[in-house]
Amino acid sequence: MQDTSYKEQVAHAFDQSSSTYDRLGVQFFGPMGRRLVDIAEPAVGERVLDIGCGRGACLFPAAEKVGPKGRVHGIDIAPGMIDEARKEAVGRGLRNVVLEVMDAESPTFPPRSFDLVMGSYSVIFLPDAVSALARYAAILDDAGRIAFTSPEFRAGTFPFLPPEFTPLIPRALLEHLPEQWRPEALVRRFNSWLERAEDLRQALERCGYTSVDVIDEPVRMTALSSEAWVEWSHTQGMRLLWQHLPEAQRTELRERLIEGLDELSDDNGALAIDVPVRFVTARVAR
Ligand SMILES: C[S@@+](CC[C@H](N)C(=O)[O-])C[C@H]1O[C@@H](n2cnc3c(N)ncnc32)[C@H](O)[C@@H]1O
Repeated sequence: MQDTSYKEQVAHAFDQSSSTYDRLGVQFFGPMGRRLVDIAEPAVGERVLDIGCGRGACLFPAAEKVGPKGRVHGIDIAPGMIDEARKEAVGRGLRNVVLEVMDAESPTFPPRSFDLVMGSYSVIFLPDAVSALARYAAILDDAGRIAFTSPEFRAGTFPFLPPEFTPLIPRALLEHLPEQWRPEALVRRFNSWLERAEDLRQALERCGYTSVDVIDEPVRMTALSSEAWVEWSHTQGMRLLWQHLPEAQRTELRERLIEGLDELSDDNGALAIDVPVRFVTARVAR
């Protein structure tokens, strides 16, 4: 698989979904982004970089914390995401937010530009995340911090989704995906080092960080209905799966998911599922 083609497809998928991203009756990225900011504790006046900022799930809570004397710089590879986040920043009258289309694997900032680098559910999309994390160490000031979230990978479960979804997605159906787009293949190829806390710790230490903390803490995802969840899943990383599935299997998966999720929903048809999330923090070792 060519990394450029993978990256272009990721950028395209998120660009296409940006107008509805996180606006379809499902709460997940918002609560996760706010929790990440609580854990990372940006202080008044600090300079923060949000990599793969999307529409600003953690960018806006961080902008509030650093206040007008601080600055939050959001970068994303999908221009649509940056446009949406910019509209939001203008709507909120924020002057401490800068938004820019940029590949988070090649950030173009001078050394020691930031006090905190954050990334919520974005590091997993970087084909060479370890090199990117080393570059973030260089653009962080002395004792600067990094804080990011990733899915918690669990053996036997469908990567990126809570365990409740494992029985709802027939493995045979995924065999209709081109080999390189099968979720396990992506995880294995790019981000297997994220799976084990010890590998993650060692990888970060090799990148120039210390005091690595790995906190596995669920984030409650709520959806107005099973249909809302399925629609929403087309606007996040799972869009890549949907778009590579042949039409017949797409229809089958949609039906299976709605049926299965209906069984998990409450009397009003709403869903509340705890999603295992890994919160990782570390400090630059200088
Ligand atoms: C699941 S979304 C998370 C967005 C946001 N952080 C949030 O929590 O809502 C992943 C984001 O990472 C961005 N992304 C993926 N690869 C990237 C790259 N190489 N450089 C910058 N952004 C990237 C996508 O465009 C998308 O906006």
